Amino acid sequence: MNAVTMNSLSKIYAGGKKAVDSVSLSLSQGEVFGFLGPNGAGKTTTVKLLNGMLSPTEGSTSVFGIEPSQNPEKVHALSGVVTEHAQMYDSLTGIQNLIFYGSVFGLGETESKKRGMELLEQLELSDAKDTKLAAYSTGMRQRLSLARALIHQPQILFLDEPTSGLDPESAQNVHSMIRRLSAEKGITVFLCTHQLRYAQEICTRYGLMAEGRLIAEGTLEALRSRIHAGMQVKLKVKNMPPDLARRTDDDTYELPIRSEDEIPQLVQQIAGAGGQIYHVSSKLPSLEDIYFTLTGKKEELPQ
Ligand SMILES: Nc1ncnc2c1ncn2[C@@H]1O[C@H](COP(=O)(O)OP(=O)(O)O)[C@@H](O)[C@H]1O
Ligand SMILES: [Mg+2]
Repeated sequence: MNAVTMNSLSKIYAGGKKAVDSVSLSLSQGEVFGFLGPNGAGKTTTVKLLNGMLSPTEGSTSVFGIEPSQNPEKVHALSGVVTEHAQMYDSLTGIQNLIFYGSVFGLGETESKKRGMELLEQLELSDAKDTKLAAYSTGMRQRLSLARALIHQPQILFLDEPTSGLDPESAQNVHSMIRRLSAEKGITVFLCTHQLRYAQEICTRYGLMAEGRLIAEGTLEALRSRIHAGMQVKLKVKNMPPDLARRTDDDTYELPIRSEDEIPQLVQQIAGAGGQIYHVSSKLPSLEDIYFTLTGKKEELPQ
């Protein structure tokens, strides 16, 4: 059974905004799926549809075979959700919050506490277990939110911008936890983020969203071959022969190549024509490069 299926899933908000536009996609169990796109692309709306917080305007979706808007409590029993603004109680301590959310999912206090302590340990929050949430930093809150989402051992995690507002070290922490969960527990992860660079480090497959539409999906290799973009070689050269590359402001050049085997000849050509080479490196197109190629947009996504 698929962990998630979406069939021509669409959502039009009351004001007429089509936030999700005929998205069809399925996720196998155990995948770490990156659902990517800039703000406004329709990611959060999709997560809400998958959790039964919103009903589809057209099309359908299911999570482990269950229709979320008809059986939200059944979907919630199988899933953990981390959103940008986690709802937890400021006046309760870390462990008290986890015990409370354990009870919401029907766990007894002893079991919630045991699971809660394990999760706090894994997320490096043990020292703060008796500290009230009000005194937690953003990074600590986000990690506690992840612990809360995991308290009932869900089979799928929906993570909506889980590292937004985190410093790089806390973001790394959250990423290692996601990797570990998928490797050790086979948990399926649906990760929404506009930080394409981060996603590239942890996901097994990607869906690229733009203005509500799924414009491409696949592994990084599949997406790279889809845009037919090969390698790029990056060079820093003074006095670059003008027939080899256009002049740039800071003497750096990016040229397309088919494979690394072309580099020695290129270097010889440049040096032979009087160019002075300071730096050479090759790179494959990143998810950002792929996204911008497919959407025709050049500007950077906010990081
Ligand atoms: N409750 C709402 N009512 C009307 N429009 C909304 C609502 N929520 C989101 N939108 C609009 O739907 C589009 C998709 O939003 P969202 O799903 O939040 O995207 P993302 O999570 O990718 O940033 C945006 O244009 C947003 O302004
Ligand atoms: Mg969002």
